[in-house]
Amino acid sequence: MGQSSGHRWLCIRQIQVVEATMLQAHKILALTETTQATHALVLCYFLETNSKQYNLVDKNVIEIGAGTGLVSIVASLLGAFVTATDLPELLGNLRHNVLRNTKLKSKHQPCVKELSWGIDLEKNFPRSSCHFDYIMAADVVYHHPFLDELLLTFDHLCKNDTVILWAMKFRLEKENKFVDRFQTLFDLEMISNFPSLNITLYKAMRKDSMKASLPN
Ligand SMILES: C[S@@+](CC[C@H](N)C(=O)[O-])C[C@H]1O[C@@H](n2cnc3c(N)ncnc32)[C@H](O)[C@@H]1O
Repeated sequence: MGQSSGHRWLCIRQIQVVEATMLQAHKILALTETTQATHALVLCYFLETNSKQYNLVDKNVIEIGAGTGLVSIVASLLGAFVTATDLPELLGNLRHNVLRNTKLKSKHQPCVKELSWGIDLEKNFPRSSCHFDYIMAADVVYHHPFLDELLLTFDHLCKNDTVILWAMKFRLEKENKFVDRFQTLFDLEMISNFPSLNITLYKAMRKDSMKASLPN
């Protein structure tokens, strides 16, 4: 089990994907019955089945709200330099999962780092030295009070050539509003849809920086 804490996501069990890096559709569907990490599984499946188009070898990838770290693990096994991030209280479990599943298996050892959305972004991820080819996010938009901070985080981490891959389930009006705000900064394209799971996978890139700005 994950380390104990009041945070609801710490109750997610540690994951073991050591021998199961090539996820197949039927495995995903079976796993979704037993795990809360459905969005992450959908994104992993996409990465594995589209690894020619989205070649992660030697690419810089950051995952925000990594949770159990499944997306970070798969991105690492696919050859990327990965930074898996989450809230400080999640990092012990995340580090354990990432290390256990990538040690001696990945081309580049992933790094696990705190990233609390909207907090100390320039200090911990300076724009001048951080360049990410991909930002990955699975199930980070739901009913929580940090949607503005989440948008600031995407904005801070995303350069003109960064690709955001984001798995999302529409649930409430608030989340739809987030998407509207997101689209003031980023061009959003649906790249895959899983209607039975009600999950959509998006690709996003920064709009022309002269035209885009955060709404007040
Ligand atoms: C619904 S879980 C998704 C976890 C994982 N991406 C997945 O799909 O299984 C949301 C994640 O966002 C993280 N999170 C929530 N609020 C956050 C914040 N303010 N700053 C950073 N991470 C946050 C949580 O700790 C959690 O890991």
